[in-house]
Amino acid sequence: AQRREVEEVLGPLRLTHADLEKVQALMREEMERGLGKETNPTASVRMLPTYVCRTPDGTERGDFLALDLGGTNFRVLVVRVTEDGISMASEIYVIPASIMQGTGEALFDHIIDCVIDFQMKQNLVTQMLPLGFTFSFPCEQVGLDKALLLTWTKGFSASGCVGQDVVQLLREAAKRKQHLGMQVVALVNDTVGTMMACGYDDPKCEIGLIVGTGTNACYMEEMRNVGLVEGDQGRMCINMEWGAFGDNGCLDHLFTDFDKVVDETTINPGKQRFEKLISGMYLGEIVRQILLVMVDKQLLFQGRPCPKLQTRNIFQTKFLSTIELNGLALRQIRAILNELELDASFEDSVLMREVCQAVALRAAQLCAAGLAAVVEKMRENRGLEELSVTVGVDGTLYKLHPRFSDNLQKTLKELAPNCNVTFMLSEDGSGKGAALVAAVANTTANAME
Ligand code: BG6
Ligand code: GLC
Repeated sequence: AQRREVEEVLGPLRLTHADLEKVQALMREEMERGLGKETNPTASVRMLPTYVCRTPDGTERGDFLALDLGGTNFRVLVVRVTEDGISMASEIYVIPASIMQGTGEALFDHIIDCVIDFQMKQNLVTQMLPLGFTFSFPCEQVGLDKALLLTWTKGFSASGCVGQDVVQLLREAAKRKQHLGMQVVALVNDTVGTMMACGYDDPKCEIGLIVGTGTNACYMEEMRNVGLVEGDQGRMCINMEWGAFGDNGCLDHLFTDFDKVVDETTINPGKQRFEKLISGMYLGEIVRQILLVMVDKQLLFQGRPCPKLQTRNIFQTKFLSTIELNGLALRQIRAILNELELDASFEDSVLMREVCQAVALRAAQLCAAGLAAVVEKMRENRGLEELSVTVGVDGTLYKLHPRFSDNLQKTLKELAPNCNVTFMLSEDGSGKGAALVAAVANTTANAME
């Protein structure tokens, strides 16, 4: 009887092949709508042009600064691109929550303070270096160095930034601080930075995927299909902003009660609905909501109340990853739970692992359905029977979780059997890719002078 009740709770999270095919088809529809000539307010996938028109070809050269804002860590980097390859040095800086959610001015002032500190430490104060900015939020780009913030996502909410040109905000902060050592030449999304970084090593890399704090993807689209930008020749990288897939209601049939509660308790309810089913910032909270219901139904802790489970964000990505490690003994799981002050029996540990598995499997499958729509579109675009393509990937969940990538790849093969997809882990983050985009921008600017 207990088993049946557990299945009743977890049932809505289990997706069939047909469910996933439907998600794939819906994603494809939303992609077409997003790409259309007029900005389509009902399309939930924005399909933002990036003005990045090619992946690296190995001729990029120079020294660049890069900033990487929007993931777990804020980084400042110096990237040296020579004919012998790329070398980098970087430093992680903290962005306190008070700054993430304070004023835009304070946020960008803080960023410039970090850049100045970094340039001092690296002995780079006397130079004016071109800078590539990885900014992992949705922006409407008008060019490589002009990007209007459409909305904050994940934990950010700094005031006075939405609708503004983020490059300009950074330049103004540099001016306020009288910092002359940098010149912002390009802004890229982290998906684009990741694709470019991996593209430097593998020319077949034409897709970027992030499964970290948030989730998103970009890919090389034919210019003729990009309604919002003039011209029909060649390709342009499109930042899909797929995290917002479903914000128009098209995925409502998928959301469980747990997903709804998690969404309602975020700072952006109703927004980033697809992301909230997949990425590291939310999975632990979904697990927690399920466990709360299981306690209520007396399926856990022998019906004893568990006040500790009321703690928000008690389960981090790391927890979800550890609990699914192959060969991890129940004893160890129990020890981990005890560390979280959850007094779990062996039976409780087994059930908790099952909950984590169900949530993480669904996330990987949904991510695969999204990616299947992308690779199939690329295959059709190019009129190919079979497409061979590489996806550059980054993000803490993808990197830490022992099953995520296997589940993703297996499901993708089932949904897009005519596509041969290789996954390439981005080794040193998307700042490297931002520098490569800056390098291309620099070459083009110099050639035009
Ligand atoms: C990093 C990128 O490697 O991956 C970041 O450089 C990106 O810009 C990140 O946002 C995604 O992962 P996470 O888990 O830190 O959000
Ligand atoms: C969020 C952002 C998006 C970013 C993704 C991964 O979805 O809106 O721009 O790429 O997180 O970091």
